[in-house]
Amino acid sequence: MAEIIMGSELAKALRQKMAEEVSELKQCGKRIPMLAVILVGNNPASLSYVKGKEKACHEIGIASKMIHLEATVSQSELMQIIRHLNEDPDVDGILCQLPLPEGLNSEEVIRSISPKKDVDGFHPINVAKLYMNEDGFVPCTPLGCMELLHRMGIDPQGKHAVVIGRSNLVGAPVARLLLNANATVTICHSRTQELAKIASQADILIAAVGRAKMITAEYIKEGAAVIDVGINRTQEGKLVGDVDFESACTKAGWITPVPKGVGPMTITMLLENTLKAYRQREEKQ
Ligand code: GUN
Repeated sequence: MAEIIMGSELAKALRQKMAEEVSELKQCGKRIPMLAVILVGNNPASLSYVKGKEKACHEIGIASKMIHLEATVSQSELMQIIRHLNEDPDVDGILCQLPLPEGLNSEEVIRSISPKKDVDGFHPINVAKLYMNEDGFVPCTPLGCMELLHRMGIDPQGKHAVVIGRSNLVGAPVARLLLNANATVTICHSRTQELAKIASQADILIAAVGRAKMITAEYIKEGAAVIDVGINRTQEGKLVGDVDFESACTKAGWITPVPKGVGPMTITMLLENTLKAYRQREEKQ
């Protein structure tokens, strides 16, 4: 039976460490790190994610600035707000919650955020740094996956990692992180043939497909590390991953659950990225 790796517990431990670091800054009378979060419109899922991010900032003692805009905001107004945040010396990290309402150009928004404050790691400069194996900001969910592997005691070097999914948000960056960590990486996607055959050769399997419980025991090599990035709602409203947990547990060596797996790690990595931005900006002063 697989060892279940609770992202929620790892997240708690990492946040505790960050809270101590922030508390020390306060004691020394230093400026407090600040994350600015922009939400456009009232998409319920986005609203809930943004609230989670604000709450997490509050818990570790960093400041958050929530900017909630009407769905009717113009592209130029949104760009103007980001320009102000780029120039605001008190703001360390800027995140614009995606997806944006129809009519707004998210590519342009991503490019307008200063790469030094791009805690999402979506700016092309940070994407390029990841691909050149240089230090920059890396997207939060892929970073969370790497921390979970570390927690499992797994060094990707020389291992076969299979990533199912090729999105810019998760699949592509996690594949690159694994390659940078010297794994042999296979990226699978919706057009991949014989997916189960390829997936079942993986020592490390990252499921980021977006299809509820698709990954059953048949896709898993005996003893593999399985990380489930999926967040899907069943017809009954239950939250499930891309992995069929019960089935996968019979084969995997380690597995992350949904909920309480990758999800809490994503927000934790956002906090880590905000502290990193803060430290780099303070060093430059
Ligand atoms: N929407 C879903 N996930 C994310 C994320 O990691 N960052 C942003 N900005 N929007 C998202």
